[in-house]
Amino acid sequence: MNKPVVLVAEELSEAGIALLATDFEVRHTDGADRSQFLPALAEVDALIVRSATQVDSEALSHAPRLRVVARAGVGLDNVDVEASTKAGVMVVNAPTSNITSAAEHTVALILASARNVAQGHGALKAGEWKRSKYTGVELDAKVVGILGLGRIGQLVAQRLAPFGVELIAYDPYLQPARAAQMGVRLASLEEVLRQADFITVHLPKSKETLGLIGDRELHMVKPSVRIVNVARGGIVDEGALYSAIKEGRVAGAGIDVFAKEPCTDSPLFELDSVVVTPHLGASTHEAQEKAGTQVARSVKLALGGEFVPDA
Ligand code: NAD
Ligand code: MLT
Repeated sequence: MNKPVVLVAEELSEAGIALLATDFEVRHTDGADRSQFLPALAEVDALIVRSATQVDSEALSHAPRLRVVARAGVGLDNVDVEASTKAGVMVVNAPTSNITSAAEHTVALILASARNVAQGHGALKAGEWKRSKYTGVELDAKVVGILGLGRIGQLVAQRLAPFGVELIAYDPYLQPARAAQMGVRLASLEEVLRQADFITVHLPKSKETLGLIGDRELHMVKPSVRIVNVARGGIVDEGALYSAIKEGRVAGAGIDVFAKEPCTDSPLFELDSVVVTPHLGASTHEAQEKAGTQVARSVKLALGGEFVPDA
């Protein structure tokens, strides 16, 4: 009997592939290249993606045998969950696989932005010894505002607390008592915007959060604020952020995610006070190993007709 086919549309860890290969025929494609991806879906029982593959109605219509879509990571914004469910396709993800890596990358960008690490590095490698130009700020005694105090937001709070910061957060879905246990005071979005010296975004991308930090919001912040986004592009409006930094209404930013990816050209890249990374939040060996093995296990359970628990 033919083995069920699992299509891997983006990079997946070797450990994940090895787990799948024991029971399934594993095929590979480039999910970002629609002309390759769509025809490859024809005989597929399960599909594994990261964030570059759009699993939309068109993709689903090319996959008559599809029973499960697995996202090797957290965000499901590139998967049309409603259309998948309508088509009888189960959607699973690996919700804890990369949260430590994403939280650590956030702290890296906060510190890099506070201390001009990338700018000093660039200048020195270009032969320029610029000490006063790259004078930074301490985290100690500053207010850090966390937008979205979920899995990653909480890990960021834990990691920043020892720096002596005051932690506030906007998350209307969380109980104040739960936040208080973590040493975080819940506040309105406007309070966070007006009070924070650092704002870090850890929201899912949704209709409600897209453009949440736009021109109006960036007129409320302190001019000394530094904004970090390791969540999803578009939650912080890139054009509005560019204008705010250019006009001296925001001091700097650390950006890992972009409205359109891959992004190799952005007005933000022109600004010396913006440090950028190419969606590296989850790019550690540890996170990729966990994401690969967690989704491989979920695919096995799903194709075996068994209950798939939250990882
Ligand atoms: P999570 O679901 O655990 O937490 C999200 C939090 O946001 C929740 O507490 C929820 O109550 C809150 N929230 C939801 N909608 C809101 C709204 N409209 N207003 C205010 N709060 C709202 O998610 P997570 O695992 O912490 O992930 C956070 C984000 O990080 C996601 O966008 C995810 O895709 C992204 N992420 C990025 C990387 C990367 O590589 N850069 C890696 C992992 C995750
Ligand atoms: C995620 O949502 O898990 C991240 O964006 C990581 C990724 O897709 O690489």
